[in-house]
Amino acid sequence: MILPSHIAIIMDGNGRWGLKKYNDRNKGHYYGLQNINKVIEHCIKLKIKYLTLYTFSTENWNRPKKEINYLFYLFKYFYKKNFNKLNKNNIRIKFIGDLINIPKDLKPIIKKIQEKTKKNNAITVVFAFNYGAKSELINAFKSILKNKNKVINEELITNNLYTKNIPDPDILIRTGGNKRLSNFLLWQLSYAELFFVNKNWPDFNFLDLKKIVNTFTSIKRKFGGLNE
Ligand code: IPE
Ligand code: IPE
Ligand code: MG
Repeated sequence: MILPSHIAIIMDGNGRWGLKKYNDRNKGHYYGLQNINKVIEHCIKLKIKYLTLYTFSTENWNRPKKEINYLFYLFKYFYKKNFNKLNKNNIRIKFIGDLINIPKDLKPIIKKIQEKTKKNNAITVVFAFNYGAKSELINAFKSILKNKNKVINEELITNNLYTKNIPDPDILIRTGGNKRLSNFLLWQLSYAELFFVNKNWPDFNFLDLKKIVNTFTSIKRKFGGLNE
């Protein structure tokens, strides 16, 4: 039985959850963020080594300013509140995305979190923050051009992505009921097993995760071969 080593999640449906329960999208973001802590613990229990969470996309700038401001407020609140616990639990935290064009006050926080947790090894939690796969690929091609690389191959592109040194996800989960990738890890998900869940992110729980991991273990992954 092969267990997944990397799970990537599109945590969708916060707004709908908040609207339905509290008539307030932002409440959904608040409870969605609370759920991250639980899911990290579940993943440790299941011996997952990497968890990548889609937190804010390059397209999420299209939302009303009020919602964007609240999201950034929440991220700061989340890291302030949980950093010590995450660090104590031996969790390594990484960020991927365009970290140049994010609010100024978040930059030192992100730097500090990455630096302080870099030797932890219970699990690596990767926050995709101001992340878009297309902009990631554009940046990769730009640095390849700049370095005047003559031979273009898979390894070179992989090594120029934000996810350099992180293995590709085995499993992609999207909550919220939609079946789309929304510009998430387009290169890295080439051979991931895809799971779409009809629950909004704040309601996604251990049983949902366990069911997915169990199903994964029964799938024959063939990578283009026959695997007889
Ligand atoms: C995902 O939930 C969280 C972010 C994009 C930040 P949404 O806010 O997209 O929730 P829905 O899809 O509108 O319900
Ligand atoms: C994807 O959800 C981004 C995150 C979960 C951070 P969206 O709600 O932004 O995606 P679309 O707009 O439904 O494609
Ligand atoms: Mg959404």
